[in-house]
Amino acid sequence: MLPFPRIRSQDPAARVTVSPRSRVLADSFGRVATDLRVSLTDRCNLRCTYCMPAEGLDWMPHDQVLTDDEMVRLITIGVTLLGIRTVRLTGGEPLLRKNLERLVADISALAPRPVVALTTNGIGLAARAEALAAAGLTRINVSLDTLNPATFKQLTRRPRLDDVLAGVAAARRAGLNPVKINSVLMRGVNDHEAADLLSWAMTEQVHLRFIEQMPLDAQHAWDRTQMITAADIREQLAQQFGLVEDPDDAAVRGSAPAELFRVVGTNYSVGIISAVTKPFCGACDRVRLTADGQIRNCLFSRVESDLRAPLRNGASDEEIADQWVLAVAGKRAGHGIDDPSFLQPDRPMSAIGG
Ligand code: 5AD
Ligand code: SF4
Repeated sequence: MLPFPRIRSQDPAARVTVSPRSRVLADSFGRVATDLRVSLTDRCNLRCTYCMPAEGLDWMPHDQVLTDDEMVRLITIGVTLLGIRTVRLTGGEPLLRKNLERLVADISALAPRPVVALTTNGIGLAARAEALAAAGLTRINVSLDTLNPATFKQLTRRPRLDDVLAGVAAARRAGLNPVKINSVLMRGVNDHEAADLLSWAMTEQVHLRFIEQMPLDAQHAWDRTQMITAADIREQLAQQFGLVEDPDDAAVRGSAPAELFRVVGTNYSVGIISAVTKPFCGACDRVRLTADGQIRNCLFSRVESDLRAPLRNGASDEEIADQWVLAVAGKRAGHGIDDPSFLQPDRPMSAIGG
């Protein structure tokens, strides 16, 4: 039998050859992407100040957004040909995508079956958590930065705190596990609420993780000097709780970005993600697909690889898989937020997916 043809990347940074028998999404630093984050839409029903301006953004035109069939085809290629093991659906707000339950069911039916996860702002989740769980969703992350209705309205520019709280409760009732809460603290807005959020999360039995604010806002207003750091958060929590580094953390952490701290006297652990001050890029196993069919090998990439054109031009699964491999091969070592030459990506978080 003739050997399989080998395709060599044009990019010298991407010293990776593609062989149909052994495709993995490896980069030149030895990292392998197995966690696919799919942005299903760039639209959102909130306007979090760290993400979007009050008036929203120019949404992607419909004809550029992948159809359900196109999404499922790309995800199938990722799972069956490229070693993707976790598929996290994000947005914008993924609950705004029609047929989300159908997409979850189709992805869950793939072999090998991936873990299917959702990152949502929780609006409308109360009515859908059960159906999503039945469709095969296992894990969910809900974004919630405050428990104060007025602060919620100030931060998200919408008065919807109750919807989110109802969504979190419904997610737990539906058996989604784990239910994680992502919180971003902003100076002078909700930065005094860390301990309240922790008390609430312990009562609700949900996993709370604080995330340092990253420069991904459409307005480019992020300011390093104003950022609440992981150290600030830890200090604030320590005023009300005894915290020790979680003894099990190192063993189980793997590529999970949160550092875990055990609340003394309980078996509860709170996560703090030092996305900026202590980047976890060295262990990154993620790759992203945008709603318009672009592969991004990093949240902070300034280049993307288009899979929509080949998809719509009749490329085979193998050809698409090869392009995807090359897209990941060129991944850079880290986000470089602290480099003087750092440039924020052109797409805001809402169009990349978290
Ligand atoms: N920095 C950190 N986290 C952010 N998120 C959105 N924008 C930012 C940012 N600039 C969070 C949301 C959500 C997840 C997708 O990312 O709160 O939980
Ligand atoms: Fe919407 Fe998430 Fe952006 Fe808030 S952070 S506006 S919930 S996409």
